[in-house]
This record gives sequence, structure tokens and C-alpha cells, in this order.
Amino acid sequence: MQIEMKGIDKSFGTNQVLKDAGFVLGHGEVHALMGENGAGKSTLMKILTGVYTKDKGTVVVDGQEVSYKNPQEAEKAGIVFIHQELNVLFDLTVEENLFMGKEIKNKFGFCDQKAMRQKASEALGRLGVKIDPGEVMSNLSVGQQQMIEICKALMVDAKVIIMDEPTAALTQSETVVLFEVIKSLRKSGVSIVYISHRMEEIFELCDRISVLRDGTYVGTRNIPETNMNDIVKLMIGREIGERYPERDCEIGETVLKVSGLTKKGVFENVEFDVKAGEVLGVSGLMGAGRTEIMQAIFGNLPYESGRIEINGKEVQIKSPIQAMKNGIGFITEDRKVEGLMLEESIEKNDDGLPRRDYDLHRRETDLEPWGQFCAETGGKRELLSYSNPGHPASFDLCRILFPVE
Ligand SMILES: Nc1ncnc2c1ncn2[C@@H]1O[C@H](COP(=O)(O)OP(=O)(O)O)[C@@H](O)[C@H]1O
Ligand SMILES: [Mg+2]
Repeated sequence: MQIEMKGIDKSFGTNQVLKDAGFVLGHGEVHALMGENGAGKSTLMKILTGVYTKDKGTVVVDGQEVSYKNPQEAEKAGIVFIHQELNVLFDLTVEENLFMGKEIKNKFGFCDQKAMRQKASEALGRLGVKIDPGEVMSNLSVGQQQMIEICKALMVDAKVIIMDEPTAALTQSETVVLFEVIKSLRKSGVSIVYISHRMEEIFELCDRISVLRDGTYVGTRNIPETNMNDIVKLMIGREIGERYPERDCEIGETVLKVSGLTKKGVFENVEFDVKAGEVLGVSGLMGAGRTEIMQAIFGNLPYESGRIEINGKEVQIKSPIQAMKNGIGFITEDRKVEGLMLEESIEKNDDGLPRRDYDLHRRETDLEPWGQFCAETGGKRELLSYSNPGHPASFDLCRILFPVE
């Protein structure tokens, strides 16, 4: 299936969110849609799939102009949008989720359980994932729940699947599985729109990248003919040179020194030091072990050998609590899953870090340093999931900078 979106405008009230946006999706390609937060990527895809109506512009699918009135119409045409917040019913089984509203009936009008079980198993098998169709959704990992969403798309014979930040809540190994699934979908001729800001994932997985900036289409690049700097330049609209402003902070003594840190097969002989006032970047390809090294230093992953020094003294860190006592904080890759209780208030989340290992209670006065943070949100009784998307990260930082004594 080929899709061409052109000259798309969309305003919410007086706020014009899309202005001359669009892109062209080819048959059987994995096409990344990139742009800074708020650039309009999700909105453009919601227009394609009939969630929103456009103010202006054209959408052409396989040579015919279309305008889907709702997601069901888009789905009938073979275009499925897997939203960032998964759209599953947690108390129902995998099977019930897969056939919601599309139950297979026998000639007496009853649900044909056997036929549904078989079709579910087939579709799951096509994805190469082992999930029991009778399992309750809430018992599955986020990665598995996402596979069910993809499975739903396959069962309606989707020709185009849009994935909005699909790896945001996945572990490393779930991401690997997802990529295999995406690659096999591409082989079978399905086109994928892949929204992500993780540059390295995109260079590994995608065929082309289209970029939106402030709601406007700025260009498309073939992956083999471009590089990360080029894409960042398209996204932010400035020369790369400006990304590296002069530094004027004072660098002090070495505060953390790691040497010979080894966990066979995961990371070996890792060596670095960090000085006071310094920001140390740790780079490497996906799966290179960056997260695992930091988890080890934070006492969350046992290592086999090596030495960790803090302020010149060797320390033994066997748990996150010991790490925190040594003045180390950790903001996890996936705050939503590992670090925070999104259904709880800011106040309640402040009880501990990380939540599994710590359970202390605070008095009102202990929360004073949080004043500024809380002022920006709806107050400390606000549920974290309702606060601004950037807030969980600043919340985590707050919690580390003003820890419980
Ligand atoms: N339903 C809506 N009502 C009002 N504003 C919205 C709505 N949906 C998105 N926006 C605004 O549109 C802009 C683009 O949002 P979005 O498409 O989600 O960007 P992206 O997915 O690229 O991060 C943002 O400024 C956002 O606040
Ligand atoms: Mg978005």
C-alpha cells in the first residue's frame, strides 16, 4: 500500500499544530517519522487514521483520495494505528482482546471458541511469540501486550501499521523481538510507520526517515545516504555547530572511579572515572551493555569482578539502598515501568526510590524542597500519569537531589 499525505493543516482552537505537513509512505517499507516533541507526528497519524479531521490538504491511498471518518474506517482499509498508550483491556484474556467486537460466531449465533482459539494461535504463531491465548492481559509484560496489539493488526489484515514510540516501555530483549517482528512484516509487504526519537534504533531498522519541524514537513532521507547529524539538523533547523555551546563549569576531583568491572558476556573490563561537576556520556550500540554497567554500579545487577571507588575509597555496592547511601542516584531508562507509580500521587511516589527496595514515609515539611516542582504541576496530590510528559523525569531528579535522610 502507498500513502501520500500532502499540505496537511490542522489547528486546535487558535493553536495551529500542523502547517503544510505530510510524507509519502512506500509499499513494504519501514518509514521513520521524526521530529522534536510536539512537532505534530502523532497528530498527523491521527489525521491519517480518522481520529481527527484535517483542516486542509490531501491524503491519497493507492492513487485514490481518501478521508477516513474514524479509526474503524481506516482499519477496514488496512491502516492500523498502535497508539503510544496501548489500547488493551487488562482484565480480559488475550483471546478476548484479539476478538473484541469481531467474535467468530457459529451458525447458531454463539461464539465459536474453538475457531477463535485456533485463529488466535495462528496469528501469534505468525509473530513467532509464545503467548497463551487464554492468559489474562495484565499478566503479560508490556512487550507482550504490544505483541497482542500487533497481532490484532495482523488479524484485520493490516497493510500499514503505525507504531507510535513502540520501544518506549520495552526492555532490551523485548525490543529485539519487536525488531524481528517488524522485519518479517516488511518482508511480507506490510508498510510500517515508525515514530521514535531513538536515532540508533531508526538507523538499524528503517529504510527512510521523514522529518516534521513545528508541524511542517521538512524532508525525507534514505537511511544509507544520511547520518544522524543530518537528521538532527533537519529536526531542529540549525547547524550542528550550535549544538555544542561553550562549557564554563568547574571540574573538580574524581568522585567515581570504576576499573576492571566485569560480568562475563554482558560487559568486560569496564574502566572510567567521573569528576565532580562533570557530565560523562556513555555511548555504544543497542545491546552493548551500557544500561547493565550502570545497573551494576547502582547495585541492581551483580557483577563478577572489578572495583568501584567513591571519593577515592573502594566501596561494595550490593543493593540500590547501598548505592543511594553512597550518594548515587539512578534515573532509569524506563521511568514509567521501573521507577514510578504513575497511578499514584506525587506525594506517594516520593516514598521511595526505587519503589521495590525502599519504603519510607515523609512528613509534610520534608516535601518543602519540592515546592517549585509541585508548583509547576497540579500539586503533590496530582497523579503522576496526568502530569506533563516531562514531569516524571524532573520528578525523579527532584527525588534524588532532595533524598530522604
Ligand atoms: N487534542 C489536542 N488538542 C489540543 N492540542 C493538541 C491536541 N493534540 C495535540 N495537540 C498539540 O499539538 C502539538 C503536536 O502534538 P503531537 O502531534 O502529539 O506531537 P508529537 O507526536 O510530534 O510529539 C502539541 O503542541 C500538542 O500539545
Ligand atoms: Mg507523539
